[in-house]
Amino acid sequence: MESLVKISNQEVEVTHRSFAVEMPDTTLGAVVTGVKLAEISDQDFAELYKVWLDRALLVFPGQHLTDAEQIAFARRFGSLEIEMGVLTNLKDDGTVREDVNDDMVKVLKGNMHWHVDSTYMPVQSKGAVLSASVAPVEGGETEWADLRAGYDALDDATRAKIEHLSAHHSLKHSWAKLGYTESKDSSYNGYGLNETEVPLRPLVKVHPETGRRSLNVGRHAHAIPGLSPEASEELLDELQAITCQSPRTYRHRWKAGDVILWDNRATLHRVMPWDLSLARVMRHTRIAGDPVTEGWERAAA
Ligand SMILES: [Fe+2]
Repeated sequence: MESLVKISNQEVEVTHRSFAVEMPDTTLGAVVTGVKLAEISDQDFAELYKVWLDRALLVFPGQHLTDAEQIAFARRFGSLEIEMGVLTNLKDDGTVREDVNDDMVKVLKGNMHWHVDSTYMPVQSKGAVLSASVAPVEGGETEWADLRAGYDALDDATRAKIEHLSAHHSLKHSWAKLGYTESKDSSYNGYGLNETEVPLRPLVKVHPETGRRSLNVGRHAHAIPGLSPEASEELLDELQAITCQSPRTYRHRWKAGDVILWDNRATLHRVMPWDLSLARVMRHTRIAGDPVTEGWERAAA
C-alpha cells in the first residue's frame, strides 16, 4: 500500500511496510530486517519487490529458511530455473572434496570469477536466492557488482562504441580459460556444458522492469562479432574492471541462516576464495528469466 503526500510542493511517495531497510554506501544492496520471509504478507512482498528492483541485491540476516520455504519465497518472483542446488565442497558423506579434478570443485573455483548466472543458457536467469547453511570462519564471502552503475560510469565514446555490440556467452569457454574440461564420472551434471549453439547477447542490456541500461559482461562473455579476439578480450576486461570497483560493489560475510536475493539482470557476482579444507554449504535457488527479455539472439549467418 502506498500514498502520495505533498511536502514542499513536491509529491513524495510514502510507503507502508513493516520491515526496515538499511542502505550501505554503495550503488547496490540493502539489508532488510524485521521481516520473516517464510511468512511475508502480500503487501510487504510488493514493497520488498520495489526495493529489490531499486537496489538489485537484498540481504536478509538470520532467516534460517527450510528448503521448502526458500523455494516458496523464490517462486513469488516467477518460475524457477533451478529449485534447489547445494553448492558445497563436501561430499554426500560429509568429507571434503579433495580431488582438484572433481567437477564440483571446478564449479566452485569457477564461481570465484565474476559472472552473471545462466548467460550461457538460452535464457539467462531473472534472479537468485542464496542461503548459507555452513559458512567458513574465514573467506568464502560473496561479492556483487552493479552492472547498471558500471554502464552509468562509462564515457560517451565508450557508450557509443558498445551500443550495438554483442558477445557470445559460453561455460565451455569460461571453463577452458581456467584450464578445465568436463570430467566423465562426477557429481556435476554438466549443466550448460553441452552447448550446440552459443548464445549471443548485447553488451548493453535494458532492464525489462526498470528500463535502466546495464552492461552484460562477466567470465562467460567472449568473442564479440566484428572485433579481433584480442580487442574483444580487452574491451570486455575494461568494462568489467570499470564495473567491479567501489562504490559499485558489495561484499557479504555469511553467517549460517543468512539469505540473499539478487537481480541477475543487473549484477555480477563471485565467491571469494576460502581454504577448501573448510566446509562451506550454500543453498541456491535460481529464478527463471523471461524468454522475451532474457533470451538470446543468434549471430547473423
Ligand atoms: Fe553464480
